[in-house]
Parts: sequence; structure tokens; C-alpha cells
Amino acid sequence: MGFCYLSFLIILVVMRKWFPEKFLWGAATSSHQVEGNNFFNDWWKWEQEGKTQSSGAACDHYHRFREDFLLAKELKHNAHRLSLEWSRLEKEENVWDESEWDHYKTVLDELSKLRITPIVTLNHFTVPLWLAKKGSWLNEECVNIFVRFAQKTIKELGSKVQYWITLNEPNILAFLAYYYGEWPPYHKNFGEALTVMKHMIKSHAKSYHLMHEYARKNSDIICPKIGMAKAVTAFHPCRAFSVSDQTSVLCRKWLHNHGAVSSLINGRILIPGIKPEKLYAKKTLDFIGLNYYFRQFIRRDKLFSKHFLGEVCSLDHHPDAGKITDMGWEIYPKGLYELIRSFSRYKLPLMITENGIATEDDSLRQTFIKQHLDQLSRAMEEGSPVIGYLHWSLLDNFEWAEGYTKRFGLVHVDHKTQKRTVKPSARYYASIIQNLTRKTTS
Ligand code: BGC
Repeated sequence: MGFCYLSFLIILVVMRKWFPEKFLWGAATSSHQVEGNNFFNDWWKWEQEGKTQSSGAACDHYHRFREDFLLAKELKHNAHRLSLEWSRLEKEENVWDESEWDHYKTVLDELSKLRITPIVTLNHFTVPLWLAKKGSWLNEECVNIFVRFAQKTIKELGSKVQYWITLNEPNILAFLAYYYGEWPPYHKNFGEALTVMKHMIKSHAKSYHLMHEYARKNSDIICPKIGMAKAVTAFHPCRAFSVSDQTSVLCRKWLHNHGAVSSLINGRILIPGIKPEKLYAKKTLDFIGLNYYFRQFIRRDKLFSKHFLGEVCSLDHHPDAGKITDMGWEIYPKGLYELIRSFSRYKLPLMITENGIATEDDSLRQTFIKQHLDQLSRAMEEGSPVIGYLHWSLLDNFEWAEGYTKRFGLVHVDHKTQKRTVKPSARYYASIIQNLTRKTTS
């Protein structure tokens, strides 16, 4: 009782505003990072080849989803972001595994029983192995293959879900896997990264039209709200008064943050090599998902060099750098405010589809949550149409190339025993949800 009252008072002092009654509060996850034993996707194969640590049983969420959703409920979440594991649903090309569709129906029914709104991502990085063998997103055929998956998804699950995210962070996948060579298939080719982006944008746009059309024609399907989860970064110049640093910052803001989103709204040019008018991309977002984690300082020594994106400065010697997380990312809460304000220009609902911190120090996570929600409420106070906040992540999960070395969860998972332990920061987040959500509309 004492803790509750004290935390309520602290929260009131810290936060500037009440959140609307229908605000979506919760956490986000992705199938490969929590389910376990996803034998049929590309990441699993790379893991078995020793390219990264094996995800193994992950959080065994495939079997423990009920227990995990109960925890989310106890923590006052009214929304939950999850992703479908495409490689379970379509293990062989064009052969649906109906028992796996039933699995996800059960998962969604469980959320519905708990009155937790699902936000479902169709694809969060992993693809079925058979598709990887065909060249994955580099192969144009992938577009129609994804659209076929989207069609089956709306047919099977459309009566249970309103909020859909077609793709998670196309730019991260395209650039980490095809340009920087840090993720499988470890290519280093700028042109390939752009091709992947193009195919992903096209897949989103075509799926958007098809899912809406299917819903219009079938009365049992909920009218969908379809978005994309976009990775965004707060870019600042390394040297405040350097014109060349500023120019690279503008290029990165465009290419990394706004390019894809703007093309899905305006259908106009944005990314070199992509002709959006042929992509049917105009007005294909019902909301914008933002995944925000950190700030980067950008430096470019020569104004007229071909490296128009410049370079990311080391944080070690930067006078303004804040604390650094276990991922080596700078904590910069104001970046959330800056990005929300900048995406408000599109006049579409915004959903924070990921925001979180890898750390073993849970009090740092608590401060992170407090400071980011403060910036979120500040942006809303200035009129930004934010409809939800989904913390990354509910559970300590499999962190891609970093394996199990990084902990992002609100809930600690012992990966040997699968024991879940709620962290104090999760309780703090719950008290914000409980105490700062307005019960009546104003
Ligand atoms: C991804 C997640 C990942 C998180 C932390 C996001 O870019 O969508 O899958 O775990 O960042 O790295």
C-alpha cells in the first residue's frame, strides 16, 4: 500500500498529463525471439550453422503464452504486440499448416478473454527456409508470396484482430543484412539493400489493399487498421555548427526515418531507385508504428564527399552523450519527443510499437520508462496523435546476433528453467498505466 501511494505521488510529479482511457498500453514481442524451436526459418538454420548463438527453446512462449499473458494482465497491460511465425504456418511453399493457424487462434482468444487488444505483426525478420532458398526479399517473387500470406492471414484471423503491422523495420533488415553485413545473409551491397526495401514496401502496399478489400467483402472480418513498424533514430550532428555534419543528419533523417513512411503516404519519390507510383503505395498506412531506442551523432568531414550519410561518432568522447545501455546505445528520452513531433506532420495516428532498454540494472530500466513516458506525454500535450505505447519487451528474449547476452524484458526469464520473475520496473510501469489513465473522457 505504502509503495503504491508513494509511486503514485512520484508518477504524478513526474508525468505532466493524464493518458486517454482508450490508450493502448502494453509490451511487444516477436515470434522467433520468444516462441522457441522455430525449426523452419532462416535464422534457425544460421544459428545451427554457428553463425549466432542458437535460440533453442527461447522463452518457450509457444507453450507458455497463457502464463505470460496472465502476467501482462497482472501488470495492467491492455494491449500486446506479437508476431506470427510464418515458417510455422507455411512450412512448405503454398502448403498451410492448419494446426498452426489454430494455435494462433487460441493465442488470440486467450488475449481476448483477458481483454487485451492484440497488435499482430505478419513478419518480424524471419522467413520460411524455402523462401530463404529462393533469395528471400531480394527475389521479386517474394512480394506475391508475402501477399498470399497476408490474404490467408486476414481470412483466418481477421475476425479476431483490428491492428495489423505488415512488416517490422524493413530498413533495419535491408541494411543490417544486405548492406552492413551484420546479419545473415551477411551481404554488403547498397543496391541489394535498396532492392530489399523496394520489395518490402511493395509487399506492404499490396497487402494493405488486399486486406482492406477482403474485410469490405466479408462481414465477419473486423475493419482492419494496418501499419508498419518503422525503426527510427534521433540523429544529431556530432559538431553542432558543422554544415557537413548537419547535411548528413538531414540525409539520414530522410533515408532512415521518413523515406519509407512518406512513400506509403504520399506515393511520391523518396528512396533512390524506387518508383513509388508503380508500387500502389499511396495512402497505405492507417497508423504509423515507431520503434525508438537511441540517438546517434553524425559526422562528415568533407561536405562534398560521396559518403553523403557521414559516419556515426563514437559516444565515448562526446560531451553531450547520456548513459549507454548494454547494447552500446545512448539513452536519449527527448529523442522520442522529437520523433513523435516530426512524424505528427503526416496527421495519422502514431503508435510506439517498440521502446526499451537492454540492461542488468533494473533501476535504470525504471528511469528509462519514466523519462520516455514523460517525453511521450509532452508530445501528446502538444497535440501529437499517439494511440499507444508498447514497451520492448515483455520477456527477456533471444536478441538476434547478440543471442541471450542482452536482457530487454519487463519480466526476467531464467532460460534454463523458464522461470519468470517480474522486475520492479514492470510494477512501476503498471502503476503508471493504472494511475495515469483517465477513467472518463474529457
Ligand atoms: C527489433 C527487435 C529487437 C529490438 C532490440 C528492434 O529493432 O524489432 O526484434 O529485439 O530492436 O534490438
